[in-house]
Amino acid sequence: MKNLTELFKENEGKRAIGSFNVHCLEMLPAMIEGAKELNVPIIIQTSPGTAEYIGLDLLVSSIQTLSERNNADVCLHMDHCTDIEVIKQAIDTGYTSVMYDGSSLPLEENIKNTKEVVAYAKERNVSVEGEVGSIGGAEDGVVVSEEDAIYTDPKDAYQFVQETNVDAIAVAIGTTHGLYKSKAKLNFELLEELSKNLTNAGLVLHGGTGVSETDMRKCVALGMKKVNVGTELNKSYIDNVNSAFSQATPLTSLRKLFIPANQHIKEIVKEKSELFQLV
Ligand code: 13P
Repeated sequence: MKNLTELFKENEGKRAIGSFNVHCLEMLPAMIEGAKELNVPIIIQTSPGTAEYIGLDLLVSSIQTLSERNNADVCLHMDHCTDIEVIKQAIDTGYTSVMYDGSSLPLEENIKNTKEVVAYAKERNVSVEGEVGSIGGAEDGVVVSEEDAIYTDPKDAYQFVQETNVDAIAVAIGTTHGLYKSKAKLNFELLEELSKNLTNAGLVLHGGTGVSETDMRKCVALGMKKVNVGTELNKSYIDNVNSAFSQATPLTSLRKLFIPANQHIKEIVKEKSELFQLV
């Protein structure tokens, strides 16, 4: 298993790394197999809710097994965590990367808390992502509108990175989490400016669901280093499982009902990962 810094270094100039939210254990093997089939690294990220549902220890051991089985570069990352104690538990259990999300706090407090996380993580060779600005919307399939996004203020972002020494920073350039009511309007000038000046921390695009192929390629070309995709996997799984379960009888082998859903997860991981390639 690798941390973000290692993945950023090894993939510099080649690609952004896809960071996919796992929603249940059943879909996990397909995600890593998808990355392996393309020979690209993958970040598996868990919301604190998913981590609690599956269990930190089970996630760590499953990812270890699957990365060895597939001989794949995998990073296990805690997504959007606001609780420093949960972050420390994840690190102690074997996560290789964590995100402390203090974006709803005043900047000074966000910096102070993020520094505490960085101090704990760095001693244990774990990378840290922070967030400045507000990526609107909500996760888990909630429909949101683009008006919810608040763009990152570049001055705040520079101060944040300089003072916290994070490895990665989530910036708000117009994407929002979840399904879009309307097409995201991305601020590419802001991205260019951030990318030019923030050379010490990898830029992270949240809200990958609903971003068009052209916009996604442009984001990667302009310097996004990690791209998060969550809702698209959740939606696809529900659609496929719904259709398989609605045709099942009590004697249908349960495991067979997940096969089409898993196959689609693999396809999404591959399709998205291809968009993240620079060369
Ligand atoms: P989507 O659910 O919009 O793909 O966003 C995922 C994400 O950014 C998780 O942090």
